Amino acid sequence: MNFPQILVVDLGSPYALQTARLMRRAGVRAAVLSPEKAQSFLQQTRPQGIIFSGGTSLPEDGIAETILNQADRDSIPYLATGAGVRLLMSCYQMAGRVSKEASGYQKRLCRIQTPDRLLFDWPEESSVVTAEPEFTLEPVEGFIEPAQVEGVGPVIAHSEKLIWGVPFQPGAEQTEWGEKLVNNFLFKVCDCRTDWSVTEVIEEIREQIKEAVGDKKAVLGYSGGVDSSVIAALLAPVLRDNLYGFTLDGGHFREKETEEVERHAEAAGMNWELRDRQREFIRAVGKTVDSEKKRDAFRRVYKKELEEYTREKQADFIIQGTLAPDLIESGESGSGALIKTHHNVALDLEAQELHPLAPFFKDEVRELARALELPDSVVNRHPFPGPGLFVRIMGQPVSGKKLDILRWADARAREVIAEKGHSGFSQLVIAMPCVKIVGIKDDGRGYEYPVIVRAVETSDFMTAKGHIFPDQVRIALEEALTKHSEISRVWFDMNDKPPATVEFE
Ligand code: XMP
Repeated sequence: MNFPQILVVDLGSPYALQTARLMRRAGVRAAVLSPEKAQSFLQQTRPQGIIFSGGTSLPEDGIAETILNQADRDSIPYLATGAGVRLLMSCYQMAGRVSKEASGYQKRLCRIQTPDRLLFDWPEESSVVTAEPEFTLEPVEGFIEPAQVEGVGPVIAHSEKLIWGVPFQPGAEQTEWGEKLVNNFLFKVCDCRTDWSVTEVIEEIREQIKEAVGDKKAVLGYSGGVDSSVIAALLAPVLRDNLYGFTLDGGHFREKETEEVERHAEAAGMNWELRDRQREFIRAVGKTVDSEKKRDAFRRVYKKELEEYTREKQADFIIQGTLAPDLIESGESGSGALIKTHHNVALDLEAQELHPLAPFFKDEVRELARALELPDSVVNRHPFPGPGLFVRIMGQPVSGKKLDILRWADARAREVIAEKGHSGFSQLVIAMPCVKIVGIKDDGRGYEYPVIVRAVETSDFMTAKGHIFPDQVRIALEEALTKHSEISRVWFDMNDKPPATVEFE
């Protein structure tokens, strides 16, 4: 395979990998690299275009400036996004003023003034996602302002050279015309050709892993979800009997989930076994109510069990289904800050970790699952956090009893929604804030727990829209869930992400 055509220089934007995903969706491969690695990349190849993907601030080591100067010298088209605009301003010595500090990612209105090829086919007004502070600038000779982001500042473009600065994030799902902008950059600015296909990706991953593992043994921590099932289906035919899949039952699964995991392992054609470690996990996780400490406790037991299993099987490799969002949120990609600890990222294990799906997002992995002919129950499976129900019990320590209540509520909620034939959301979260509240039970006063029902609409899980249930589904959920003697109310949570996350911990 050739070098990717587009270089995305990750200057700390949480949207760098998503921008690359939009390009793959258009059939064009892109590499997302830190500024240091981007420099080495440029020594080996001349990309068709560069995106400087800025977050809320810029690295101060000067490497991004060097790359920008090289792009200018070699006439490589480039686009600076988010704080990347400030990079462009400083390299071109544009006078400017930043009036206030950035205030987190939010939606703003973008108004087109002079349509150009980057903004080709954009409507006059649309929403964009940005965390840029309000700024003004005096464009130096050659630069124009084809659009304005309300309350932020202008989009800048060079009238002759192929250079743009947009003070927003085209890769964010809620930037309405972000995908169009990316496509314009690829095909109207950079003259890219299509070079990404699912079949090629499958072959490439198989080759890479075959080469890395050779005839040694590898284990796969198998959750039964779409990510690890894709890995199993990709690698079982290549590694054959040298691949061992195993699932740890820590008491964090939903009702009948272990049976489902078994069916999925079978469909993927992989050696598989289940280990019951409920006591170990519940004891460790139940020691604290703090979300990060819980995740950390889960991670420690998971790591210990994984290491034991690896030793037992005499395996040299551990293969994991880590995706790009896991890396972004764990602060392992570019310079993104730590948002939340994921149990399977950077475990620092004795055996070598392989993460074949690390460049991809959920919808791409689903595409791979479809191409690998995995059953629909795998392809369309909603995501579920690694520590499972443990991070859906808040406010009091996790216990077997609370897990049983939540597991019951989760299963009933799913049944009710299925009975009503309701769909249109990407994930359902049932959680239990352990505060006792009053409700009416059997015509008397009840004083029990509430459960939270939350559904979200999203494809990449980096941003999401809170789902609103129709009245008849909402009422059916209330009726069904309050039948439990220890549940007195149902709370519906329809917060968007951001500001909320999908999970509660
Ligand atoms: P948040 O709550 O960060 O979740 O908006 C985004 C998506 O990630 C899932 N999630 C996890 N998945 N291990 C996983 O494999 C984890 O520790 C974890 N935590 C959250 C979450 O369910 C949602 O789909």
